[in-house]
Amino acid sequence: MSAHAAPHKRITLGDLAAKKAAGEPIVMVTAYDYPSAQIVEAAGVDVVLVGDSAAMTVLGYESTVPVTVDEMIMLTAAVRRGLQKPLLIADLPFGSYEASDAIAVATAQRFVKETGCDLVKIERGGTSVDRARALVNAGIPVVGHIGLTPQTATSLGGYRAQGRTAEAALALIDDALALQAAGCSLLVVEAVPSEVTAALMPLIDIPVIGIGAGADADGQVLVFHDLLGIYGGPTARFVKRYADLRTAAIAGVEAYADEVRGEEYPAPEHGYGMPAEETVRLRELIAGR
Ligand code: KIV
Repeated sequence: MSAHAAPHKRITLGDLAAKKAAGEPIVMVTAYDYPSAQIVEAAGVDVVLVGDSAAMTVLGYESTVPVTVDEMIMLTAAVRRGLQKPLLIADLPFGSYEASDAIAVATAQRFVKETGCDLVKIERGGTSVDRARALVNAGIPVVGHIGLTPQTATSLGGYRAQGRTAEAALALIDDALALQAAGCSLLVVEAVPSEVTAALMPLIDIPVIGIGAGADADGQVLVFHDLLGIYGGPTARFVKRYADLRTAAIAGVEAYADEVRGEEYPAPEHGYGMPAEETVRLRELIAGR
């Protein structure tokens, strides 16, 4: 069988580079557990990110900051079990990589060993460029993330678009190029003016995945719960809803509750039967006690 015909050939970084070269958009989406991994796999996406957005979408924290390494590892391992073909990226959570190269490498090694992820993602330029280089030197492929970096949103003035002046945009472009020079394999650019992405693209060789960064990036990423309308909280302006699963799910659970309360569910076809003679014997046994 040729490699091309293999049933579940895992997408590689080489495949993403080829898509970039061919001008073929790369599709990335988040997933956080086994069923969401199976859904995105069936939908044929290229790349799956276990984002620390899990903190808000599935764990109910108010921001991405509190999520722990252990929580992210549990979620990433579940996604791994549900995925075959897409490339799998895990977010290193806030506080798990910033302090030193050694801490970053130790955390990333745990992710690779315990979850089977293909790459890890870290946020920001600055010291994260050094962390990215250390991870790459340790043999761990890295995704950079610049623009709106939710782990440090407070110091960016909140959840707002970044790079809106020429100087701020140039600083972002410099961060992007520094992350590339450090060996990053991919770059996520979040919530920046489309013009900034357009200015960056001719300067950068690695695939760039945008989220709220316009149409010029090599690919797009959205959060699973946002695009499917599962998450009840506020969403950013770049979110497009492709389904309204929350409304459908509430309607489904309401219908179930109504039927239980109305004694319509369970119907006979939802139960198990016992041979008539066994029922008779059971009654006799009870009576004989
Ligand atoms: O955590 C996340 O889901 C992310 C994406 C929004 C890129 O970082």
